[in-house]
Amino acid sequence: MSDLEERAEALDSADGLAALRELFTLDDTVYLDGNSLGALPRHVPARMQDVITREWGSLRIRSWDESGWWTAPERIGDRIAPLVGAAAGQIVVGDSTSVNVFKAVVAASRLADEGRDEILVDATTFPTDGYIAGSAARMTGHRVVPVDPAEVRGALGPRTAVVLLNHVDFRTGRLHDLPGLTAAVHEAGALAVWDLCHSAGALPVGLDAHGVDLAVGCTYKYLNGGPGSPAYLYVAERHQTAFDSPLPGWTSHADPFAMSPGYAPAEGSVRGRVGTPDILSMLALEAALDVWDGVSVDAVRAKSLALTDFFLECVAAYVPEGRVVPVTPAAHEERGSQVSLRCENADETEAVMRALTERGVVGDLRRPDILRFGFTPLYVGFADAERAARILAEVLAV
Ligand SMILES: Cc1ncc(COP(=O)(O)O)c(C=O)c1O
Repeated sequence: MSDLEERAEALDSADGLAALRELFTLDDTVYLDGNSLGALPRHVPARMQDVITREWGSLRIRSWDESGWWTAPERIGDRIAPLVGAAAGQIVVGDSTSVNVFKAVVAASRLADEGRDEILVDATTFPTDGYIAGSAARMTGHRVVPVDPAEVRGALGPRTAVVLLNHVDFRTGRLHDLPGLTAAVHEAGALAVWDLCHSAGALPVGLDAHGVDLAVGCTYKYLNGGPGSPAYLYVAERHQTAFDSPLPGWTSHADPFAMSPGYAPAEGSVRGRVGTPDILSMLALEAALDVWDGVSVDAVRAKSLALTDFFLECVAAYVPEGRVVPVTPAAHEERGSQVSLRCENADETEAVMRALTERGVVGDLRRPDILRFGFTPLYVGFADAERAARILAEVLAV
């Protein structure tokens, strides 16, 4: 056994979160794509069987009330809240992240002071956020200003209405300074909207503590909600009364079953709802969140950093010099829960990931030259990290 294999074994034995892996359906594959699609918690199929056969099959329409379907968006929002540092009553689950970006950006621009007409958008953002912000700007008479997150402070000014940023960059795995940037945005008199897709469930977010205005995130990555599971919208309590949704569907109405022609928004997070919730996906997500019972996000973060440190160390030890270059920052305060490696030879990126997958190491790639490896601390161990780096070196040696 090599020195690194021995270290991995010792680290796994000392890992207080190691037992959580048993809660998931996994096999011998080293699964490093939980930053794209989280693994399936073992108990979810049985819960879904019950939802489908009993709640839907037997109770039918009664389940909206008797099985708690109607209130699921807020109830599940309150389950996500502690994972992102939010008090209850501020998160509602539903729709995709893209749709929630639309709600958040338009609503934020309506909350902003009169005369402010610029929406600063993370220029390195996941494309959907930029596309949606562009459309939101056209509809509201604002102007999108693309800005590298490192240059946000210099771009803020009296015209800034809203700033839309990613907490962790999907491509590089860089963690942005949410507390510092939110404070700078506020100092400039604007509102901060954060996309938490790549941070929620992997590291502490502290939405309330840092005074974030609005936030969105998906649930199919580190929250393991399943393919296409619904996203969520956070609206800080202080903004809820003035929150003016651009998609005021009937389920966000104060009295939806009055079926009145006039719109009157509900109080609280319910105001962020749109139409009928997608109950099957939503209840799969709710069940998946059970794996977090008794788990501290700080412990998850500590393990995530230890895992990514160890993986980087193994890559440096095993992979021939210069074949891949880490683009994920080495500094802990700038690192999310993934490691991105740039292939020296971009043309071989796809072949490398295919060969890794064939050998039981699943990550993914972002064209043209980035290999991405996501580390979900709930089910990835140190031996996984060592094996992934060793097999990567073997693949690159061919
Ligand atoms: C940072 C980020 N924002 C937005 C999205 C898009 O989410 P959705 O497809 O749920 O709209 C993703 C998807 O991976 C993402 O990583």
